[in-house]
Amino acid sequence: MAKHKLGIIVGSNRRESINLKLAKAMAKLGDGAFTPVFIRIDDLPMYNQDNETPVPAPVARFKGEVEAADAVLFVTPEHNRSIPAVLKNAIDWGTRPWGKSSWPGKPAAVIGTSPGGVGTAIAQQHLRAVLGGLPDMPLMGGEAYIQDKPDLIDNDGNVSDESVRGFLKAYVDKFAVFAGKLTNKPA
Ligand code: FNR
Repeated sequence: MAKHKLGIIVGSNRRESINLKLAKAMAKLGDGAFTPVFIRIDDLPMYNQDNETPVPAPVARFKGEVEAADAVLFVTPEHNRSIPAVLKNAIDWGTRPWGKSSWPGKPAAVIGTSPGGVGTAIAQQHLRAVLGGLPDMPLMGGEAYIQDKPDLIDNDGNVSDESVRGFLKAYVDKFAVFAGKLTNKPA
């Protein structure tokens, strides 16, 4: 059965990002249903409408990778009660030039982790507001706020806490079903 190609976008450009570790865990746990593909955003220049025609090479690469994905998972930190600028920048480039948005038709889900008790809840609500403005990007409901703890997830995406692992697995499985209903390929 054809697997969905899952584009994973991490909203952090930090080498030791805990959200990158969470993203690796999601990729691993979702591997049965999805073919995970990490889409980097840390090399994108700051959005500038003057530079849209043609878009810079990293932007063309980014847009092509989004367009090749069947579904998109956003894994984001919270920066000052919102999404990091690097993620908003990527989303903005993805919508441009006018009429050439890369996002339509991509079912999306949102998850994130922070050491704080509310585990990126506010950033995720902001991200949902941003994505809600993009035409035809169906967003899976539900909430997934992961509070990071030392050694919760290792560099290979292994989750040490069984209940967290179970929660993440259920979330990615739910997304596979959600995405399967909205794309031409079965989950
Ligand atoms: C943070 N952090 C943070 N955490 C949080 O829960 N709510 C917040 O509003 C903020 N604000 C914030 C702003 C800035 C500029 C930084 C650098 C950090 C802490 C943040 O959760 C922590 O640094 C995470 O490790 C960031 O995720 P990555 O980059 O490790 O994936």
